[in-house]
Amino acid sequence: MNTLLTGATGLLGSYIVKAWRRRGNLIGLYSGNYKIEDKEIPYYICDVRDNKLESIFRKHKIDSVIHTAGESRVDFCERNYEHAYSTNVTGTKNIIELCKRHKSRLVYVSTNAVFDGTKPPYRETDTPNPINTYGRIKLECEKLVREASDNFLIIRPILMYGWNNPKERENIATWLLRKLKNNEQILLVDDIYDNMLYALECADSLLKLAEESKGNVYHIAGKDILNRYQFGLKLAEIFGYDKNLIKPVKNSFFKEIAPRPKNTSYDTAKLEKELKARLMGVEAGLSAMFKEKNCARQEAVI
Ligand SMILES: NC(=O)c1ccc[n+]([C@@H]2O[C@H](COP(=O)([O-])OP(=O)(O)OC[C@H]3O[C@@H](n4cnc5c(N)ncnc54)[C@H](OP(=O)(O)O)[C@@H]3O)[C@@H](O)[C@H]2O)c1
Repeated sequence: MNTLLTGATGLLGSYIVKAWRRRGNLIGLYSGNYKIEDKEIPYYICDVRDNKLESIFRKHKIDSVIHTAGESRVDFCERNYEHAYSTNVTGTKNIIELCKRHKSRLVYVSTNAVFDGTKPPYRETDTPNPINTYGRIKLECEKLVREASDNFLIIRPILMYGWNNPKERENIATWLLRKLKNNEQILLVDDIYDNMLYALECADSLLKLAEESKGNVYHIAGKDILNRYQFGLKLAEIFGYDKNLIKPVKNSFFKEIAPRPKNTSYDTAKLEKELKARLMGVEAGLSAMFKEKNCARQEAVI
């Protein structure tokens, strides 16, 4: 079984590499911002929009693709529509065509941003209604995936945290850790809610669903529904930083950013039924992240 993982150096992609464990051959792909020194798997540098991708499908006889690559910075997507559209939609079209041609199964990674956040908790059967460019573009990708074949799985993770590859973008946890370490004041919104998810658990659940699930769409999220301010306080407590550096604000305080759905927390009943388990809450997830790097208190490595 040969699986191609796009976005293999990103937050989710790098945790998928960690969680893979002898499930067959995993081949990673990324756009090549830098050279990977310590290679656990073979990596290719190739843009998902590039025709050259076909040679990787041919060479490795790809049976399935886990497609995580794309532009997912919400504010950047709002300001750079052409780039966001082509990286996500044109890239996904290219992957779909290759999957059709090579009869490969497609696992597409979407997002909670397909929902407007007005009627949580969201089930897989709820109707999407994105309110920003990123959400609209990801929903368009989902539609293309559904229309292309029946051999697909759509995974919608919620906001993830974990250790990012040092050359990749920060996530809410590593951004907070950098600021806390530098004793900077941090403003965090207390009116945007998610059931945040440890990226390693997301990767592990995604791989289990890709192997065993009967359904086509799954929401993956942690156990606790928290706002960003509450998440920041919990992180400071677990990593041993000064909570007083963090102050609550309303989302409306930030004028220049893309619209954010207020509460896209998920109903995870379908996931729990399939996995026969409930995912961790924020305290357990952040503690697992802390242990992952054997961080000494007050000396968190970021
Ligand atoms: N992070 C979250 O909280 C979150 C929440 C919900 C859903 N998601 C979804 O989960 C997926 C993964 O997100 P992430 O946060 O792990 O991503 P990420 O950390 O931003 O990493 C993006 C990855 O995609 C690669 N990439 C970007 N453009 C590419 C292109 N044109 N061709 C080939 N590779 C390209 C990057 O390679 P280079 O670095 O070399 O450019 C990198 O490996 C995305 O589809 C996102 O929409 C994420």
